[in-house]
Amino acid sequence: QKLDIELAAIEKGGYDHFMLKEIFEQPQTIFDSLRGRLDAKNGTLTMGGMREYAEVLNNAKRIIIVACGTSWHAGLVAEYMIEELCRIPVEVEYASEFRYRNPVVGAGDVIIAVSQSGETADTLVAIEAAKEKGAIILGVCNVVGSSIARLSHAGAYTHAGPEIGVASTKAFTAQLAVLCLVGLKIGIDKGTITPQRFQHLLDELEQTPEKVAIALNLDNQIKQIAAKYKDARDFLYLGRGYNFPVALEGALKLKEISYIHAEGYPAAEMKHGPIALVDENLPVVIVATKDSYYEKVVSNIQEIKARKGKVIAVVTEGDNIIPPMVDDVIFVPAADELVAPIISVIPLQLLAYHIGVLKGLDVDKPRNLAKSVTVE
Ligand code: G6P
Repeated sequence: QKLDIELAAIEKGGYDHFMLKEIFEQPQTIFDSLRGRLDAKNGTLTMGGMREYAEVLNNAKRIIIVACGTSWHAGLVAEYMIEELCRIPVEVEYASEFRYRNPVVGAGDVIIAVSQSGETADTLVAIEAAKEKGAIILGVCNVVGSSIARLSHAGAYTHAGPEIGVASTKAFTAQLAVLCLVGLKIGIDKGTITPQRFQHLLDELEQTPEKVAIALNLDNQIKQIAAKYKDARDFLYLGRGYNFPVALEGALKLKEISYIHAEGYPAAEMKHGPIALVDENLPVVIVATKDSYYEKVVSNIQEIKARKGKVIAVVTEGDNIIPPMVDDVIFVPAADELVAPIISVIPLQLLAYHIGVLKGLDVDKPRNLAKSVTVE
């Protein structure tokens, strides 16, 4: 038994939990997911697994992204990325809903299946059905040779390595990086983005591992914020645009790891309901990095402060407008809004982790959850 304990400690590489180890692996796993594909110096992008179907992908009438859980959140970010870069309409579907409703799908449609395990039953069956109807499937999986990867016509693996923590962390940022590459590849081939914007985004993506490493330095600060809010009953997470799915993911992490009720919402939609919950006991996490939605998010913060909500804001380094307005502020490095979610999600992963640990919970194996849901 002693040997078992020692082995487990070695596997965790000096970290207390797999979740923390995996959070800290992200600079490397993002780098691994870009490696061999993105060459910012030469301004090139090679996506080997998409080559054979390049024409179909570039001519897609629409793209439907099918996924579950955290992978579904990555899909939502990809919707924003792909519509902007490729000017192709994108829909994001929960696999379990898509598969049961006799969806209108067929030739000319491209389905992107996003799955860490590549074995999620709902996602697998959803793409099987779409494939039979003539859609082309592009798999974005982490596990090589998994069922979804094998069923796909084309693919782009994430290279996050094995993810042990049940709540997904490093697989999510790898998915964002790879989905951005997919959008960039189609966009540059179709001519829906300028060569300048393409080059700029290659540079931005290349810098993400370093910026994630900087965000990880916030660990101690976030631990203190966690201690301050760990006894809250509910949390609200808000964001707009590219950061809206990040808010959803932050709320999901907190629910999974700390069993605190948390809701993610698009910040502007708050006034259609969740604002009724705001009082001095409600911590509101707002992802408010500098992007085209920034001014709007500032007014959303004012709305919450006017109702005495406690605001924890994730902002861009150098921001001096939001910090004096809020209760706690977390600074992350500046990034183009397209890649910003890869960085802005890091403090939210750490916050969920530390709250879970402070509550004495099993963060690697939260109750009732499974790493891979292979039954429906
Ligand atoms: C389970 C896991 C989640 C994961 C989801 C989808 O619920 O606990 O972390 O996001 O399945 O899994 P997939 O392997 O398809 O990405």
